[in-house]
Amino acid sequence: MEKFVIRGGKPLHGTVNISGAKNAAVALVAATILCDEPCILENVPEISDITKCLKILKEMGAHIELLDRHTIKIDTKGITNPVVPYELARTMRASCYFLGTLLGRFHEAYVPMPGGCDLGDRPIDQHLKAFRCLGATDDIVNGNNHVRADSLDGNQIYFDFVTVGATMNAIFAAVKANSLTIIENAAKEPHIVDLANFLNSMGADIRGAGTDVIKIRGVDYLHGVTYATIPDQIEAGTYMVAAAATGGDVTICNVIPKHLESITAKLRKCGVHVEESDESVRVWVDGPILKTSLKTMPHPGFPTDMQPQFSTLLTMAEGTSIVTDDIFDNRFRYVGELRRMGADISVDGKVAVIQGVGKLHGAPVSATDLRAGAAMVIAGLAADGTTEVDNIVYIERGYEKIDEKFRGLGADIKRVYCPDSDAVAMSG
Ligand code: EPU
Repeated sequence: MEKFVIRGGKPLHGTVNISGAKNAAVALVAATILCDEPCILENVPEISDITKCLKILKEMGAHIELLDRHTIKIDTKGITNPVVPYELARTMRASCYFLGTLLGRFHEAYVPMPGGCDLGDRPIDQHLKAFRCLGATDDIVNGNNHVRADSLDGNQIYFDFVTVGATMNAIFAAVKANSLTIIENAAKEPHIVDLANFLNSMGADIRGAGTDVIKIRGVDYLHGVTYATIPDQIEAGTYMVAAAATGGDVTICNVIPKHLESITAKLRKCGVHVEESDESVRVWVDGPILKTSLKTMPHPGFPTDMQPQFSTLLTMAEGTSIVTDDIFDNRFRYVGELRRMGADISVDGKVAVIQGVGKLHGAPVSATDLRAGAAMVIAGLAADGTTEVDNIVYIERGYEKIDEKFRGLGADIKRVYCPDSDAVAMSG
């Protein structure tokens, strides 16, 4: 296993390019199962979650060809058995997308239960509710979720609360169903819109993605396309916060500034300058970081996937900030790690009270999950002295070459082999 060794305290300067969005790309890769011809996906991030998704497809019989580091040709014709292999799928949340895509294509799917994970319990009741609305039944067979339908028939699906994963799965199952499906209280994240655009470019009929009502008229055939994944809003937000935390001046390129609005607004509240251009944002600091309060919300609210990074910035602010994150049960596990670096944070359930301490100090810390790991890297870059971040397998699930990109901004961050750790990363 490897760890990052960071000698912090240097302001970041320069330009960084953002990769394709993890949470869009995992859905697009799974969606190729529904396509009746080969597809070419561009701007696919080089991260371990994507490697896992591709391995799952390959083991099921798909033909995968890497045209370059970020461009992949996928032909899923060879998949004949709708069974997802256990070992590859059990640690990856996005493997539940194979339930919807295999159900949509074969009217049946066996997918290992994703299980509990680093963010707390993550049930799939709303996913199953969507499948049932379309006429499927479900049960558990040998630890697999098994869904099956004689035919999938369009219907109204009303989600009890906003859920990204269940919205994706409802789209997968409905895109080739008979007649019209209406999803109400749908998630509005940019990756939902990206999935709808991808499927529509193949010939699907999906309207309203990006609003809370999505209408899908089923089609019989989806043709092959070449499609580029949207930029990763969370990766971009992570570099924006890192620029602010180190007192730097960084231009973050290949982004859609509209997707970053909630992050931009909060940074400005903290006294950080953000200048938007067509496909980039420049972030710089010329004064103290100011306190703010924030609450995570589904899109277009402040994303839970940016909460650990932003809370880390607030540990360096003047005054007391309050952060509420109730999307998942357990998104404050990293707080104990930040305390080792001198942060003053108390957590009561889903609320953290952060007393700004100005500067953090280097310490050995662990990545407790993907975004918490990114937060530890930001803390290390901003802190005095040396920080060692272990469990970096978590970070590599979702950030392409994070150490290289930070080095490009002038950071002193090294990847070091450490033989005695054996983390297994559970994916988001
Ligand atoms: N939920 C249920 N039942 C369901 C579905 C969801 O109770 O059937 C609950 C969840 O337990 C959670 C809330 O509803 O408390 C929201 O979950 P959602 O379904 O929106 O999340 P997800 O699809 O499991 C995706 C991202 C997460 C991101 C969330 C929220 C992927 C692969 N994962 O998860 O990304 O935090 O949406 O935006 O897209 C990450 O990238 O680090 C990550 C964790």
